[in-house]
Amino acid sequence: MTATPPPAPRAAQVATPAITATGLRKSYGDKVVLDGIDLSVPQGTVFSLLGPNGAGKTTVVKILSTLVSADAGELRVGGHDLAADPHAVRTAIGVTGQFSAVDGLITGEENMLLMADLHHLSRREGRRVTAELLERFDLVEAAKKPASGYSGGMKRRLDIAMTLVGGPRIIFLDEPTTGLDPRSRHTMWGIVRELVSDGVTVFLTTQYLEEADELADRIAVLHGGRIAAEGSADELKRIVPGGHVRLRFTDPAAYRSAAGALRGGVGDDEALSLQIPSDGGQRDLRSVLDRLDAAGIEADELTVHTPDLDDVFFALTGAPVAAPTHQPKETVR
Ligand SMILES: Nc1ncnc2c1ncn2[C@@H]1O[C@H](COP(=O)(O)OP(=O)(O)OP(=O)(O)O)[C@@H](O)[C@H]1O
Ligand SMILES: [Mg+2]
Repeated sequence: MTATPPPAPRAAQVATPAITATGLRKSYGDKVVLDGIDLSVPQGTVFSLLGPNGAGKTTVVKILSTLVSADAGELRVGGHDLAADPHAVRTAIGVTGQFSAVDGLITGEENMLLMADLHHLSRREGRRVTAELLERFDLVEAAKKPASGYSGGMKRRLDIAMTLVGGPRIIFLDEPTTGLDPRSRHTMWGIVRELVSDGVTVFLTTQYLEEADELADRIAVLHGGRIAAEGSADELKRIVPGGHVRLRFTDPAAYRSAAGALRGGVGDDEALSLQIPSDGGQRDLRSVLDRLDAAGIEADELTVHTPDLDDVFFALTGAPVAAPTHQPKETVR
């Protein structure tokens, strides 16, 4: 008889998800915020929780990172049961909250060293890790200046650098790019990709569909306290129709001829535009153009609209996302 059980097979270790939640519930007073949520995030992947303001994204992050207790649900993070061993969970994770944890009165470097102290790193190790992260996050020049003078993007980078001081294998990023300009947002995306290539698991909340599309292996849409849909960006896009070609005319006669030649489309008599269902593929487009050519009609403008996460979001929640991701889009009629 052996006293200690044999180690788990490697495959089983690899298969253990970084985060799982089953039946997660949370109410504040009589307001039900999370009404039974199931999630599973494989190790070394990016999981994005998407939802409008007030959907409960921050609540999920706070619960999974032990800052707030759940009313019900079985939760495991980093292989530890959240209710039984919150301390073990805390040592496995890093959290970058929605609102900055940076202290503006001290320098970036001092903020980092403070985190190193909190993680009980030796002075020497703390200095080494701080120097390495400041370099990695392009903050060396700013390191000795008070953080209150940093731009939003610099503060956000410092926030994440501070989160990484303890070397967490699972990190929670609550709206890491809200309020950042496109360039800073791309820098942040690069940082997330780098983390994942090192095998870190990233749990990311966002209101930006484009961001989830760019980064996430899996996306869950939180709506009405439940996960309204979950899947890869492509899987989610497949659940909504919405691909079409849109033709605009300035000449009402050309518009009417086109409406006759392209049956199956939806016309807007005022805007003189026609919308024809299409997968946006070459063959489909050619067929539309051939039919126009055959009828001797020339459109003034042709745009191809493939379904994107905006359409998914709209279809699932019945509301456009609060912050537009790119150009404002015409409503699909
Ligand atoms: N401590 C609290 N006490 C009472 N209600 C709360 C508390 N924290 C959150 N709520 C409520 O729970 C709901 C979800 O809030 P939460 O902050 O999780 O949303 P969110 O998806 O993160 O929104 P945002 O996009 O604005 O950050 C909201 O209705 C909010 O008012
Ligand atoms: Mg929030």
